[in-house]
Parts: sequence; C-alpha cells; structure tokens
Amino acid sequence: MDYELLCAQMEGLAKAEKWYVSLMANAAALLYHSLEDLNWAGFYFIRGDELVLGPFQGKLACVRIPLGKGVCSAAAREDSTQRVPNVHEFPGHIACDSASNSEIVIPIHAGGRVVAVLDIDSPVLDRFSEADQAGLEAFAKVIEENMILD
Ligand code: SME
Repeated sequence: MDYELLCAQMEGLAKAEKWYVSLMANAAALLYHSLEDLNWAGFYFIRGDELVLGPFQGKLACVRIPLGKGVCSAAAREDSTQRVPNVHEFPGHIACDSASNSEIVIPIHAGGRVVAVLDIDSPVLDRFSEADQAGLEAFAKVIEENMILD
C-alpha cells in the first residue's frame, strides 16, 4: 500500500471540509476502498465511560463498547496502537462481525488527549504489518491535525 499517497488523498479531503463527521466519514470510505482484505473501517468516540460508534464503512457494528473491554478500549485507555494478528486470542475481544480475524486500532487525539479511535478489521489473519501500522498512524495524524470537533 502506498501510504504516502493515501495520506496525500486524506490531506486533499481535509481541504474540502474539516468538520469531524465529514472528515471521518470520508476517511473511513477512503480506507475501506483503498486497502485490500478489509471488512470494516471506522471510528469510535470516547463518551463518558464508553466508546460510541462514529462514521464507518462495512457491516452494522456494535454501537456502545464499555471502556475496559476489547481492542478499541485497550487502544483508547492505554493511548497506544493495538495491532492484533489474531483477534480470537485477544482477551475480551468484541466480535461485531464474526468474519473478523485481525484488527488494528489507532488512538485519535485532540487537545492533548485521546478522543476517539480508528478501528480497521480484516477477515485475514495477521493482515496488518509494521509498515501498515506506520502508514496508518501517519494517516491518523492527518485526521488529528485537520479535524474540527464541535
Ligand atoms: N473488535 C472491536 C470492536 C469494534 S468492531 O470490530 C467494529 C473491539 O474488540 O474493540
């Protein structure tokens, strides 16, 4: 995957609109239709002691996830990317879609704290490499640097 190009495309989308809903909606579509072997790409927002579903592409997903359970929650609470080669071996993994086998979740920051996570799921085991992680973290940074939350 050419992540430099993907980040440049995201910068281009951000020039058109920085409101977080539009930005994340198009970010999810860009990821979902650019990366191979995905079954879900989208965002969850921290609201109180839960993660709440944001813009995404893919099948219907869990709307509320308690902060404390699953991969997205670990990324949000530990403020660190979770790259999970086999979700079935991750304690507390939440299977919104039984087709998911691997997953990467990247924290999204605003005002110096984690406000959301970018979650990408794949039916392929060990789908996300270290290079994917670096590229997707750069992609997440483009979102952080551009989004306007209100
Ligand atoms: N698998 C995630 C839940 C979100 S869905 O995959 C869209 C988790 O364990 O946090």
